[in-house]
Order: sequence, then C-alpha cells, then structure tokens
Amino acid sequence: MKIHSTTTMIATSTVILASTAFRRGLSFTPTTTTLRRMASTSLSSTTSPPTTPPPKPKTRTRRILSGVQPTGSLHLGNYLGAIRQWVDFQNKETEPFEDENGFIVNTENYFCVVDLHAITMPHDPKELGESTLSSAALYLAAGIDPEKSRVFIQSHVAPHAELCWLLNCATPMNWLERMIQYKDKSAKAESSDSSVGVGLFTYPVLMAADILLYQAERVPVGEDQRQHLELARDITRRWNDLYCKGGAFKKRCKKAGIPSYPTFTEPEAMILSKGDGARVMSLSDGSSKMSKSDADDNSRINVLDPPKVIRQKVKKCKTDAAVGITWDDPERPEATNLLNIYLAVQPSDGSGKTRADIEEEVKDMTWGDFKPVLAEAIVEHLEPIQKRYKEVREDEEYLMGVLGDGADSANEIASKTLNAARVAMGFVARV
Ligand code: TYM
Repeated sequence: MKIHSTTTMIATSTVILASTAFRRGLSFTPTTTTLRRMASTSLSSTTSPPTTPPPKPKTRTRRILSGVQPTGSLHLGNYLGAIRQWVDFQNKETEPFEDENGFIVNTENYFCVVDLHAITMPHDPKELGESTLSSAALYLAAGIDPEKSRVFIQSHVAPHAELCWLLNCATPMNWLERMIQYKDKSAKAESSDSSVGVGLFTYPVLMAADILLYQAERVPVGEDQRQHLELARDITRRWNDLYCKGGAFKKRCKKAGIPSYPTFTEPEAMILSKGDGARVMSLSDGSSKMSKSDADDNSRINVLDPPKVIRQKVKKCKTDAAVGITWDDPERPEATNLLNIYLAVQPSDGSGKTRADIEEEVKDMTWGDFKPVLAEAIVEHLEPIQKRYKEVREDEEYLMGVLGDGADSANEIASKTLNAARVAMGFVARV
C-alpha cells in the first residue's frame, strides 16, 4: 500500500513537472536522479514532518538543425563551412548545461540531407538517390555520430513539404525577390536558356520550414546562408504576429489540446569566422565562393576526390605572380583562400600548425613550393574520411537503419509543430 501510494505520488509529481514544462513549450524528461529525489521526498514525507521541498529541476531541449543539398558531390566548402562545424558542435557542446534561467539544457542535433532542395534546379532522377545516400554516408564518415545526432532524409519527413506550403502563403513575394542566391541562380539559368522553376523562387521558404519544424534554436551554416536565415527569422515573427495572438487563437489551441504559445522558435545562424571555413573560395577565382553549381570541376575540391585528382586540382589552381605567400592582402584573394584552406586542414589533435607557424613557413615560398605542401595537407586530412565513407556507403543496411531511425525521430517532432501551425492558421482538425 505504502509502495503503491509512493508510486502514485511520484507519478503525480512527474505529471505536474511535465505539464508545467509542456505549457512553457519545454520538454521534460525526468532523469533517474530526479525520480530518485522525488521518491526520497515522497518516502520521507510519510515519516518526518513536512520540510521545504528541494528545488524542482527544470529542463528544456535545445535543438540544432542543418542540412546540405545532395547536388553532385560535396566539396571542401560544404565540409569546412558546415559539416565539420556540426561535428565539432556535436562533440564539444552537447553535454547538458544550466542556462541563465536555471534550466538544465539538453541538446538534440538534427542533420538532414535536403533532397527536396536538390530538385529546385534541373536534376537527373538517375543520380538523385545515389547523391542523397552518398551525402548521408559522408555526414557519418566526417564524424556525425548517430548516438549523438539524428541523420535523416528530408523527403522522408512529409511535414517539410506541407509546412512549406503554409509558410509560402504567409511570405510576401518581395521578401523572396531580394534573395541573392535566387537572383544569381535564376540569372545563370536564364543566360543558358533554361527555364527557372517556381521551386527555386520559394526554396528559402522550404529552408525556413526545415528549421522551424524542429523549433531549432541554432543553425550551423556557411556565410552564404546568412540571408536565408534572416528570412527564416522574419517569417517566424510575421507568422507569430499574424496567427498566434488573441482570444480566438487561445480558444483554437485549447480545443486542439495544445499550448497557446507562438508556433515557432526564432532560429539563430551559427557561422564560423571567415578564415575558419565560413566562406571557402573557388580554386579558379579567389573572389567567388567554391560552389557545386560551378560548371568547372577544377574550381572545387570534392571531399571524395582521389588524392591524384586533388594534387592535379591544386597544381592547376589560380595564383598570382608575387613572390612569398601572404595572408589577407586584398590584392591577393587566391593567396588568402589557399592559406585559409591550409590552416583549416591542419590536424586538430594539437599537432597542427598555427596561423603564425604557417606565416613563417610560407613567407619566402614560391607557388611551386607551396602547392605540393598544400595538396598533401588536404589529402592527409581527407583520406581517413574517404576510407570511412567507403565502409559506411558499402554497408547499406547500417546506413538505411540510421536514416530510418533519424526519420522516425524527426517525424515525431515535425508532426507536432505542423499540427500547431495548422491550428494557428485555423484548419479543421481531422477526427
Ligand atoms: P548548400 O547545400 O548549398 O550548402 C550546404 C552547406 O555548406 C555551406 N557552404 C559553404 N561554406 C563555406 N564555403 C563555401 N564555399 C560553401 N558552400 C556551401 C552552406 O553555407 C551550407 O551551410 N539551403 C541550403 C541547405 C539547407 C539548409 C536547410 C541549411 C536547406 N535547408 C536548413 C540549414 C538549415 C543550401 O543550399 O546549402
């Protein structure tokens, strides 16, 4: 009987804590310590006079989300600007910590292969599937750990497309007309006489949907995505203003049994500093970014390029006529870019060269001296990733298992947010 009532008390406390957290839009997962603490409070309350209960642990979940388009092969820009940043974050910053409001913050990482984005430009259906799986395998090979992060394919989580439609209808056209990537890509497509699909225009809204579905607080990306992140923030504010206010909204939420808080969390971009890989430039033009859409494959180093190809590409890359290689000279963008790459691929185990070491090493070098040194550093950095990639890509069962688990977990969260968005907009709930 006593055991039964204690259990009931623990269950009741858990429900109270969980529902308080839920009302605040926070998740609550009682840890073993919490349960033990609640159990000892409950037991002692039957034998000794009432004492002040220990402070209730408050927890909240912080989500991180990012993705890469599976368009062709992933290059050094994608790796240094995005994927490596994800891995570092996953390994260094996902331990629970206490925030300024006294909440214990648990971090969840979601990394998706954004295949719905890959069809916004003409694509080859024969290649989409392989590029998608290859990208996912590369995330894992680069160090994304399925024990610590969820990896999934965007098109396996249907709410992305549906939320995109809802957001499309709440986004002014002129916000999208300002998007630099749209202007660049559509100008390129028009100059080569290809038609531009509506999807290319609304692509930043799909990206906003990707982020908002998970209430992601932080989004690690390269510098070129800054404007899209700003748009996602603008859409969040507009949506919350348009649909999440007033008594009618509260009533709809009550009827649907969900908390009447704004539908979406405003996301923040996480962008490295320039020299650290936020903007890796093309090998054929130090003033434009390394890009998958550049027709010239020699303009980029793909993460899966064999060593021989890497050496050839570095040998051919654009340089200048000056002797001695110097950093941050505005007249020498190629020198700065290649030095940034050299620094970024140094081993991270403490044995790597620092910027000062490199400046000393290269100050009197010719390009003929430096290029082979740079090529070897890139090859050495990428070789273990390529080896691991081969293992992961050949183990289809493992890869599909990771992606299946990731999609299940993503679907659970995304469906909840989509439901809240539908309620906010006033759709009839399906019974
Ligand atoms: P995408 O596929 O063009 O690029 C993927 C990631 O790589 C970064 N990146 C670079 N970083 C440094 N130097 C470069 N030269 C370079 N080129 C690309 C990008 O900034 C990006 O972080 N719309 C996005 C994908 C996306 C997404 C999302 C990202 C869709 N939904 C939600 C974050 C969250 C894109 O096309 O990235």
